[in-house]
Amino acid sequence: MPETVLQLKNANIYQAENLVLSDVNVELQKGDFVYLIGKTGSGKSSFMKTLYGDLELTEGEGHIVDFNLLGLKEKDIPFLRRKLGIVFQDFKLLPDRTINGNLEFVLKATGWKDKTEINERLIKVLDKVGMGNKGFKFPHELSGGEQQRVAIARALLNEPELILADEPTGNLDPQTSIEVMEVLQDINKNGNTILMATHDYALLLKYPSKTFKCDENKVFEVVQRKS
Ligand SMILES: Nc1ncnc2c1ncn2[C@@H]1O[C@H](COP(=O)(O)OP(=O)(O)OP(=O)(O)O)[C@@H](O)[C@H]1O
Ligand SMILES: [Mg+2]
Repeated sequence: MPETVLQLKNANIYQAENLVLSDVNVELQKGDFVYLIGKTGSGKSSFMKTLYGDLELTEGEGHIVDFNLLGLKEKDIPFLRRKLGIVFQDFKLLPDRTINGNLEFVLKATGWKDKTEINERLIKVLDKVGMGNKGFKFPHELSGGEQQRVAIARALLNEPELILADEPTGNLDPQTSIEVMEVLQDINKNGNTILMATHDYALLLKYPSKTFKCDENKVFEVVQRKS
């Protein structure tokens, strides 16, 4: 039976008092790989921020994993984020510690205590993104593509029910973008649900999947034609 992990109904998304997206209706099922496209300033990041509680939803309905976005309390946001894996364009790794240190930091912050379990988890997620032998390195010793793979590994640490990736290939060259995309495709095939904002149409063509577009304050599904 399909399991809904995200449902927005007649949702209005604001940046301050500006209505960025109106009457949004979007649904994601467990296992989906869905794109969110649209030109710069069209509202992709605002959409994502609403989903992880960075922007408040005040109008319409929004359910994500088992949280109600409408009236979401400040104190609930960390618990929501534990069920999400969030990947950003600029990686956001902590520069003052190794890759293992970065991952350990997240695990400890989310309640992991057992040293052996922590180490096993680090190795497992780094292996999933093909970075198993790089845990001892510092972020600045890695290429952009490698840093992004680590960021994806970090997103996987707590077995998220949904991965939100906002332009994960935005800082990468085309070949590296494809490598990172292969990782995302791979983890999707292993059962992870992914929503990815992008304006890289080459990726869309190479890896076609369900696509929503932000345009003129609306979000609608676009059907890719096979020419
Ligand atoms: N912090 C903010 N405060 C006020 N307005 C904002 C803020 N962030 C974004 N906006 C406005 O909201 C609208 C949507 O921006 P958003 O960042 O969601 O677009 P985007 O599709 O992610 O663009 P990009 O492709 O450049 O990342 C834009 O008009 C932008 O100027
Ligand atoms: Mg953006």
